[in-house]
Amino acid sequence: MKIDVLTLFPEMFETFRTSSILSRAVANNMVSIQTHNIRDFAANKHKNTDDYPYGGGAGMVMMVQPLSDAIKHVLAGYGEEKPKVIYLSPQGKVLTQSLAQQLSKEPALILLCGHYEGIDQRIIDRYVDMEISIGDYVLTGGELPAMVLIDCVTRLIPGVLGSSQSILEESHSAGLLEYPQYTRPAVYDGDAVPEVLLSGNHKEIERWRRQQSLKNTLLKRPDLLNRDALSDEDLKLLKELEDTF
Ligand SMILES: C[S@@+](CC[C@H](N)C(=O)[O-])C[C@H]1O[C@@H](n2cnc3c(N)ncnc32)[C@H](O)[C@@H]1O
Repeated sequence: MKIDVLTLFPEMFETFRTSSILSRAVANNMVSIQTHNIRDFAANKHKNTDDYPYGGGAGMVMMVQPLSDAIKHVLAGYGEEKPKVIYLSPQGKVLTQSLAQQLSKEPALILLCGHYEGIDQRIIDRYVDMEISIGDYVLTGGELPAMVLIDCVTRLIPGVLGSSQSILEESHSAGLLEYPQYTRPAVYDGDAVPEVLLSGNHKEIERWRRQQSLKNTLLKRPDLLNRDALSDEDLKLLKELEDTF
């Protein structure tokens, strides 16, 4: 996947793209992340990228010209098939695992990071295919949201993570939260790992994990638990659990 990021602060992406799993995905040519400094496209003498809002009011607004030229420059690098242009915005559709799954199938994305009071509406009207928010709160800029989006989307690209099984079982992938995880040692300071995990009985382990997933979801995010979508086996596990409360 090719990702172009339009930002006033490209340096914020340096550590991000050279660390951890993402750096490996970049090194293996599974993902490319290119940043473009919007300021480089400002045509005015002082390289200004923002101006006062028409109609008055607080703050500054990112100007049309630098943004428009930056977007046109990036789009010119593509052929007939243009990538989706996404504006990170608190007014957008909230990012979920299923939206991340859809986006992970795109060959390319252009991410537009706003700042100040946001960007001139004419950019949104002319170029933006989708506005995406990372949650119902307001940040200073779109850089952190762009990194959040890149992280959760790229790890879903086949081959980026070691095991695709881990993605399938993760929280939010199949409607439930994940089960608790343990690693060595088996006993630490008197706290033991649940015995079933040491039993080698894969069927029992699977059953335990499924029940723990149901328990985590029930206790931490009951809003996610859709009983109508659960199998008879899941409902049985849930009933067993609820009887212990
Ligand atoms: C201070 S915000 C502008 C908020 C705008 N005045 C409004 O009320 O909708 C500046 C920039 O941060 C980014 N941003 C802030 N919160 C965000 C969120 N929850 N999700 C995605 N981007 C966000 C956007 O790119 C936005 O243009």
